[in-house]
Amino acid sequence: MTSSPIIELIREKLDIVEIVREYVPSLKKAGRNYKANCPFHNEKTPSFTVNPDKQIFHCFGCSTGGDVFKFVMDIEGLTFPEAARKLAGKAGVEFGEERAHVLTPEDRERLELKKMMTFAAAFYHKALFSPAGEKAKLYLGERRLSKATVEKFELGWAPAGGSALMDELKAKGWSSDLALKGGLITEREGGRVADTFRGRVMFPIRNQSGDTIAFGGRVLDPEGIPKYLNSPETVLFSKRRTLYGLHEALPQIRKTGRLLLLEGYMDVIGAHQHGVDWAVAPLGTNLTVEHSALIKRYAKDTVVMFDDDRAGIQASVRAAEIFMEAGLYVRLANLGTGQDPDEYLNQYGREEFEKQLTGALDPMDFRVGLFFKNRQTPPTAQEKAKAIAILLETVAKQGDEILKSEWVKTLASRFGVDEASVLKQLRKAPHQPQGREHRGAPARTTVEIPSIERGFIQLLLRDPALAEQAAGLVPEDFSSPVARKFFLAFMELPAGDRPRAATALAARFPEDSALIMELAVADIGGEIAAAAAQNAAGAARMLKKFSLQRRWTEMKTRMGSLTGAELEEFRKLSAELKSSAKDI
Ligand code: UTP
Ligand code: MN
Repeated sequence: MTSSPIIELIREKLDIVEIVREYVPSLKKAGRNYKANCPFHNEKTPSFTVNPDKQIFHCFGCSTGGDVFKFVMDIEGLTFPEAARKLAGKAGVEFGEERAHVLTPEDRERLELKKMMTFAAAFYHKALFSPAGEKAKLYLGERRLSKATVEKFELGWAPAGGSALMDELKAKGWSSDLALKGGLITEREGGRVADTFRGRVMFPIRNQSGDTIAFGGRVLDPEGIPKYLNSPETVLFSKRRTLYGLHEALPQIRKTGRLLLLEGYMDVIGAHQHGVDWAVAPLGTNLTVEHSALIKRYAKDTVVMFDDDRAGIQASVRAAEIFMEAGLYVRLANLGTGQDPDEYLNQYGREEFEKQLTGALDPMDFRVGLFFKNRQTPPTAQEKAKAIAILLETVAKQGDEILKSEWVKTLASRFGVDEASVLKQLRKAPHQPQGREHRGAPARTTVEIPSIERGFIQLLLRDPALAEQAAGLVPEDFSSPVARKFFLAFMELPAGDRPRAATALAARFPEDSALIMELAVADIGGEIAAAAAQNAAGAARMLKKFSLQRRWTEMKTRMGSLTGAELEEFRKLSAELKSSAKDI
């Protein structure tokens, strides 16, 4: 967190509640704070908190937190200067050209990588329209993509030669080290490096802000392997967190809260070309927990339509499971013609396609349907029992009690069995441990701070005026090293910075920023809150007494070996403690 007059100006003009709400529409007032389900991890009860007084956010579930700049950095995957530029726009503050002095070396590298990826996308795109790209252009024509679609997704062609891109990158002054980091070139046998993508139709992969962060490249030769080659993981690109087409689909998804999850690049591109512009796809068929958390930020209603083949159907059932565990409602669609969505749209058009989406099924109906599909003879009792047992594992995980009981009814009626026995069987189903919603989220901040010290730091972060009352305290009054560190840093802050103490301390101790944000927004519990409510000085006195008592107890345990001076101190302490008892 870097501060400068221009950053402060942006901060002043913006309200974090408004900015967060753009991404988290479900944000609701709850006492002093605003709350919502966390956009950074999956959860069913809101632990994501925005504090308007301090202009900070914090999630008690996954410990993410910070100021408005940090929020935009995290949610959009931006560097600080990028987030600042974006927020400057919203605040109507003039933001000059990149100010290199605010960049960390990592930021600088990320920005340079993005520039390089953008350049590479333009390079491939240009090559598509060169004579060497003729075959690829014909192929895209066969796939019935219009010029406008090719432009919108900036499709391209990676020349077949070994180093066409690498040579261009070098000519532009980019090092092979950076090109390697971006995955654009790859080390081959014998230590030689060459272009990663050669002789492939190129699909730039963008993040939700529209920056090119990776590529997928498709072979032209139907026998070629792999069919699609994807960029390796880089500092810009994590396959688990990226959805192809999200940037293009976001305006529509934001408008309607609807999202269509398709299987691949071509499906998404075809859908958009036909006006189904809320379609996205994971990269490869596996939907991840990270994807579902990303989707949850934007969409209330998700329909999954994967390819109409065995792999596609299995993958959509798995995806439904992940969505359910994220507390998201989802329906599954299946074209039933054996076609990819892209082929279906080309043959039947948008209207028919949307009918298929409207007819998408609840995942439980979908799976029961699979069981009965293509059967020559009715299932045996044993087959039914086995299927029910498997389906009940999913029912047991359903967090929505209404849906859960609907599912029980579905199973009973579709399998023609008694609802009571389904229920009985459900209670025997393997029990799901609670709290799995936090799976994949980083551990909570669990630093042990005695509650009085913790409360006092919280008071300081909240009410800077308390600093004056704390003048009589010394760092040693805090037994917890972390609390002591925060106290010292707080007292060292220039008075003008104290109202923004949480942000200032988080900037000073980035490794503790989650804890600091938590302290700043969490309710203050226990006796110290009561003492502070009476008067601020009371809280300081309480802490002092707590500290004296600790010292007294500690001395008492080594009574026999105290030095003369220590004995004197002990006597004084005992007297002080007796008199201070009257104060509180
Ligand atoms: P598909 O094989 O269904 O590809 O894989 P597709 O999108 O229908 O492509 P076309 O229509 O044959 O051109 C679905 C998705 O799985 C990933 C890609 O993201 C692809 O879009 N995939 C597939 C790979 O990453 N690597 C592969 O080798 C194959
Ligand atoms: Mn496909």
